[in-house]
Amino acid sequence: MRKVIIDCDPGHDDALAILLAAKHLDVLGITTVAGNQHIDKVTANALKIVEFAELTHIPVAKGCGLPLVKPPMFAPEIHGETGMDGPELPTPTTPLDPRHSVDFLIDTVMAHDEVTLIPTGPLTNVASALRREPRIAERIPLISLMGGGLTSGNSTATAEFNIYVDPEAAHVVFSSGIPIKMCGLNLTRQANATEVEIARCRALGNRTGQIVADLLVFFAGTVKEVFGVSGGSLHDPCAVAALIDPTLIEFEPMHVAVELKGEHTYGMTVCDHRHLRGIGDEIKSIGKRKGEAPNAEVGLRIDAERFFDLLIGTIGMYP
Ligand code: BDR
Ligand code: CA
Repeated sequence: MRKVIIDCDPGHDDALAILLAAKHLDVLGITTVAGNQHIDKVTANALKIVEFAELTHIPVAKGCGLPLVKPPMFAPEIHGETGMDGPELPTPTTPLDPRHSVDFLIDTVMAHDEVTLIPTGPLTNVASALRREPRIAERIPLISLMGGGLTSGNSTATAEFNIYVDPEAAHVVFSSGIPIKMCGLNLTRQANATEVEIARCRALGNRTGQIVADLLVFFAGTVKEVFGVSGGSLHDPCAVAALIDPTLIEFEPMHVAVELKGEHTYGMTVCDHRHLRGIGDEIKSIGKRKGEAPNAEVGLRIDAERFFDLLIGTIGMYP
């Protein structure tokens, strides 16, 4: 089984990413980073998840509370005051790993031959670890992340939340030379959980299925209020699914730059797909690649039906 660390800011969809990963991958740890909410809140949420899912053998380490350069920003309008509003979950009692997330990432990567990272929040911890111990780069075969987008954003017209919270950290990661699979908004919006999927989770009949359904009801409610669309896109589990079943998501290599200066484009993932036509339809290479060599594989299409079968089937494996 592939050894992974999930670096996250739970977060409704982060919770689902953890549940999906823990049954199919060897999760060495969960590291938290400020994003959807304050670092204390997302860390408490990570502990709540390992407790209700009976995954307390997985260590949880608390990480960076502030982006590298920008002032912090959170997303209570989507994830609520706790960062994971919806189900009533008890205050966690499981102790945290004593290390800071950045130390946990470095120690764990250096202790194994290969550790894949799954960042589903802002990239502050990962960038900080790469700066502090550059040797980890050789031992990370792949970073499968949720962030960015091929065409549009959600925090701004051009920038996706995880990248927009800490664009400078994202720049460090995208220019690290580590192979990257990028599950951006163009892809993750295809994994939209509607009433049908919520009902399927409830029908599982287990406790975790009820908790997940309650999470999704809250999430779909705020998404409707803020964006006026139905359902909730399950962004973060896409980055996990890409590792579990490589046939689920179609990726295309591209150069991705993180915009650090633009007035309207700060935090945008600028994906160079000049050599392609038919994105979102049949993809055709139309000739010689221009520009810089690809540094990432960008997810274009997901088989949503099989993705939900995998995800809901996995939720059914929990108590
Ligand atoms: C991303 O932002 C967060 O709100 C979600 O958890 C996801 O990681 C989507 O833009
Ligand atoms: Ca997230």
